[in-house]
This record gives sequence, structure tokens and C-alpha cells, in this order.
Amino acid sequence: MEQKEITPMPRIGEKAPSFKAVTTQGDINFPKDYEGKWVILFSHPADFTPVCTSEFMTFAKMEKQFEEANCKLVGLSVDGLYSHIAWLRTIKEKIEYKGMKNIEVKFPLIEDITMDVATKYGMMMPGESNTKAVRAVFFIDPKGIIRAIIYYPLSLGRNFDELYRALIAMQTADEFGIATPADWTPGDDVIISPAGTCGGAKERMEDSELDCKDWFFCTKKLDKDTVLKKILKK
Ligand code: BEZ
Repeated sequence: MEQKEITPMPRIGEKAPSFKAVTTQGDINFPKDYEGKWVILFSHPADFTPVCTSEFMTFAKMEKQFEEANCKLVGLSVDGLYSHIAWLRTIKEKIEYKGMKNIEVKFPLIEDITMDVATKYGMMMPGESNTKAVRAVFFIDPKGIIRAIIYYPLSLGRNFDELYRALIAMQTADEFGIATPADWTPGDDVIISPAGTCGGAKERMEDSELDCKDWFFCTKKLDKDTVLKKILKK
């Protein structure tokens, strides 16, 4: 029996696989064209489907917010370019949803009929569908490194506030050398990495600027303005 070649899925900490593609905004050379910027590369199952339509309208509405955080959006499905164009035109001309209307999707949507890009990025999951990409989200940093990956099944629309929160949290961790606790949003206390020596543990416990629940779990204040001033360009 012929063995199907298995493409390894890209992982966090690895270089984002490169590709050239045709999109609704012209050709792109990925990730080279995006050097110096964060990118959210995301797949969706198919054009002219309701969950995807609600997602595209929401992402397009938030595009400026992501742009201010130095982040570009790039979508993909295994549909063709003309289907993409027709769908995006329909969204703008006809679809009204949750107070959103006349929504123009200005970020590129990749045509991937050959499934080359979707396969490279592990967006095809045959247990879910042989013909549609699942809802994958890749966060890629300004050096082209994959920093986070989230997958959702076909039936589950993504929470775009959470994608934005995750982006800001990763940028904050990079800028301030901290980690962010559960449900963190800017203005909440942040986490200091655990001490690596007994002396370091003692110092942590005695540091009046830290709030240590125990030697391995210390937080500190990081105010919202300091975070947002560093991260957002308005
Ligand atoms: C949708 O976007 O509505 C959808 C796409 C594929 C399967 C199920 C729902």
C-alpha cells in the first residue's frame, strides 16, 4: 500500500515555514515580507460559510487594533482566489451581523487550492476533514519564529479578544522579561521567573517590591500605561 508522506507540524520556537502565495492583496513571500512585525497566520475551513464569515467580519473590525500592536493578519483557506474575492465582496455588500456592516477585509487571504501551505503548517487534520483546513492560529514574531499555536475544530468560532490578549501578553513578556499569569490583561500583576538558587530564593522572599506567595511564586506590579506605551504605536 502506498504510504502517505507525513509532513511534521511546525512547533513553537521553530522558524515559520516559508512559502510564496497568491492572496487577495497580491503576491506574498512569507515570512520575509513581514520581517520586523508580528503576524497572525490563520486558516479557516471554507469561503461562504457562516462561522468563517462571522470570524472574518470580527477580525477585519479589529485589524487596526492589531496593527497598533505591530501585528499583521494573514488568512488562508484551501479555496481559490476568485472564490475569496467573491466572498469578501459579499461580506462587504450584503452581510450585517452583530452591529457590523459594510465590513471590508483589507488583510490578505491566501488561495491554497493545492493545500501546499495548509499542509506545511499542519492545518489539514483528516480526522476533522480531508477537504477543509481546521481553524489554526499561528503567532509569528518579528524574527519569523513561531511563538504560539492554537487549533479549533470546524464548528467552533474563535475568540478574537483572546487572540489579542495572547499577542499583548507575549509582547509584554518579551519587553519586560516577565511571565503572565492565568487570565492576565494589561494592568494585572506579572510573574517573576522562579529563583534558580537557594540564595536567589531567599533574596526573592526578602524583596519588598515583590509579592511572594512562596519562594517559587512571586509577582510584581506592572501598570497598564507602562505596558501599553511600550507596545502600542498610535
Ligand atoms: C462555517 O464556517 O460555518 C463552517 C465551516 C465548515 C464546517 C462547519 C462550519
